[in-house]
Amino acid sequence: MKKILAFAGSSSPTSINHQLILNVTRRIEEHQVEVLELHEIDFPVYSIVKEKEGIPQNIKFLFEKIMDHPALIISVNEYNANVSGFFKNILDWLSRVDRKFLEGKKILLMSTSPGKRGGASALEYCKSQFPRFGGEVVESFSLPQFYENFDSEKGSIVNEVFDLGVSEVVTAFSQEIKE
Ligand SMILES: Cc1cc2nc3c(=O)[nH]c(=O)nc-3n(C[C@H](O)[C@H](O)[C@H](O)COP(=O)(O)O)c2cc1C
Repeated sequence: MKKILAFAGSSSPTSINHQLILNVTRRIEEHQVEVLELHEIDFPVYSIVKEKEGIPQNIKFLFEKIMDHPALIISVNEYNANVSGFFKNILDWLSRVDRKFLEGKKILLMSTSPGKRGGASALEYCKSQFPRFGGEVVESFSLPQFYENFDSEKGSIVNEVFDLGVSEVVTAFSQEIKE
């Protein structure tokens, strides 16, 4: 059994990526999963002056959480074909604590959006950048057209093909992090 930390890279209390995180983490039985809601945490905007004042407690908190978990599930939201400024700011802060803050982490990377590409540009950005921080994206997928394919009341994926695809990815990830 491995410890998995899961969170959406969104500052929204109604985040669709957080809804996807809850759907996916419910499927995992053989590992211990902790879900964080980053929108509940206050992260100051990075600047070199702020950094000289000291690394913020909440960044240290998130950094320690990541250190304590060998596997991560992250669902990123997309603003203007990239990750949101909220999430990029967190990445920037964490990289100042330790540039290799994802060293040795196995990651299931996801994204969703109301659009047909499901936030695929934000996902591709993270896929290309996480290795810079030492992280290994072992599985990934984008769920397109969230409001057509997801029932928010039930917390379930209504499109059977996507639902099966997500199950397969989650099973593969659960196996891969055992090794
Ligand atoms: C400023 C802004 C830019 C956006 N740009 C994109 C985009 O490039 N691609 C996309 O698929 N959705 C885009 N969206 C829609 C978001 O995907 C949508 O708001 C989604 O709910 C964000 O995820 P979250 O609810 O998990 O925060 C944008 C939304 C905003 C507010």
